[in-house]
Amino acid sequence: MFVELIDKKVADIAADYEIIFIVDKDLGHRFVDDFAEFDFYSYKGDKILNLPSKRKIYVGIKDLNPNSLRNASASALNAIKDLNINSIKIASYNGDCTKISFEAIAEGFLLANYKFDRYKSEKKDSKIEKILISTEDYNSKKIAINEAQIGIDHAHIIAEATNFSRDIVNEIPEIYTPEKMAQDAKNLSLSYLNIECVIHDENYLKSQNMNAFLAVNRASVHPPRLIHLKYTPKQKSIKKVVFVGKGLTYDSGGLSLKPADYMVTMKSDKSGAAAAMGIIMGAAKMELPFEIHAVLGATENMIGGDAYKPDDVLITRSGVTVEVKNTDAEGRLVLADCLDWAQSELEPELLIDMATLTGACVVGLGEYTSGVMGNNYELQSEFKNLASKSGEYLTILEFNEHLKELIKSDIADISNISSSRYGGAITAGIFLDKFIKDEYKDKWLHLDIAGPAYVSKAWGCNPAGASGAGVRACLYYLAKVARNYEKGEK
Ligand code: BES
Ligand code: ZN
Ligand code: ZN
Repeated sequence: MFVELIDKKVADIAADYEIIFIVDKDLGHRFVDDFAEFDFYSYKGDKILNLPSKRKIYVGIKDLNPNSLRNASASALNAIKDLNINSIKIASYNGDCTKISFEAIAEGFLLANYKFDRYKSEKKDSKIEKILISTEDYNSKKIAINEAQIGIDHAHIIAEATNFSRDIVNEIPEIYTPEKMAQDAKNLSLSYLNIECVIHDENYLKSQNMNAFLAVNRASVHPPRLIHLKYTPKQKSIKKVVFVGKGLTYDSGGLSLKPADYMVTMKSDKSGAAAAMGIIMGAAKMELPFEIHAVLGATENMIGGDAYKPDDVLITRSGVTVEVKNTDAEGRLVLADCLDWAQSELEPELLIDMATLTGACVVGLGEYTSGVMGNNYELQSEFKNLASKSGEYLTILEFNEHLKELIKSDIADISNISSSRYGGAITAGIFLDKFIKDEYKDKWLHLDIAGPAYVSKAWGCNPAGASGAGVRACLYYLAKVARNYEKGEK
């Protein structure tokens, strides 16, 4: 499916179906004739009136905010995607910023159209190929097309990057091993001239003393991989940005085994790494002016005679020793070594780790919101504000001195779990902070994407399954920082 801007009035565009957003019960809308069937007073922003006989669908929308637009096009598409139609037309709904409005509408369609049906014998392919957005807006005014086209182009890139990440996460654990992740990363670098990829195997991890990462991997029949992707911009780089991704291709919990119900969906424990790969792809396509690295810690967490154990003490790459009290708190162990490697090898100017790190984050924030943590409140706020425009939900979780006490250990420097049952998302963030060197404290963000990474019931523009959480948030953030920088330069 692709979205195209058409320089014609809506009425003059030939298409099989028309989507009309009813903005804040706008009775002045020119399609007022059909409203007899529309219950204005009960619609709460997402009500839909589908009129197949008229080949039109109305979607109630409370305002022209990008998030409302994105969700409205996703709802419209979900309602009609199984119909036998090839093309859809829609007017423009221009909010505060033309680029963002068009980007949001196009994203809604492209993201909601995703499906993972590799293992379905019968595939139900949507027939919809074209979404035509008129340059005429819903008030019959004509809008400038330049910014609108940029928005639509960005949406295609963002959706491709997000859907690439979703495919990685949705793939089953039998197929998607660390080696498969390495191949995907390699293929990404072969497809784009300005992306490079280096794969490190277990011998390299041993030579680097990445003993926490290796311990998590030990009971797996699949060897671990430390995957390093680098995107180099054509233009001068504004900043060196390093993403570190948790790439648990399966998390059984290890010897501290997960209960059966909690183990299902743990193929999604590679979502942080998958997001980092999507970001590299998106950044390359958008030609963002940053040198961007992705460092992915890929391994399974399994059980077996060789498994690492509660009671073990691990000497991490940084030298900090960790008492293992629960083998299911494995993501922080892998990230500890990867974060340390990323700092000493790459010297980032901005360091962002992404991980499905804690169930506590899902309990605390719900299934829609990622936790943002770190030591630099300004950086966290800037990230939250700019990245939220993508439609991803983000909340800042603050560290404090009392929570820092909770990961103390009697026999090692720190324990891999907190001594309290409360505040688990933050204490996991505080654990990671132990591996952030002083000079990087203010340059580091930790994103716990455990809630939104895997969707149990479709919402917004996310079908059930992998959402690609982190991809949109980070690409929006970087794109906006770049735009602001360019404006400042002029
Ligand atoms: N991968 C899980 C966290 C998770 C839970 C992600 C639910 C997505 C949905 C992580 O490795 C884990 O198991 N964490 C433990 C930590 C605990 C043992 C301190 C958890 O959250 O229960
Ligand atoms: Zn775990
Ligand atoms: Zn995990």
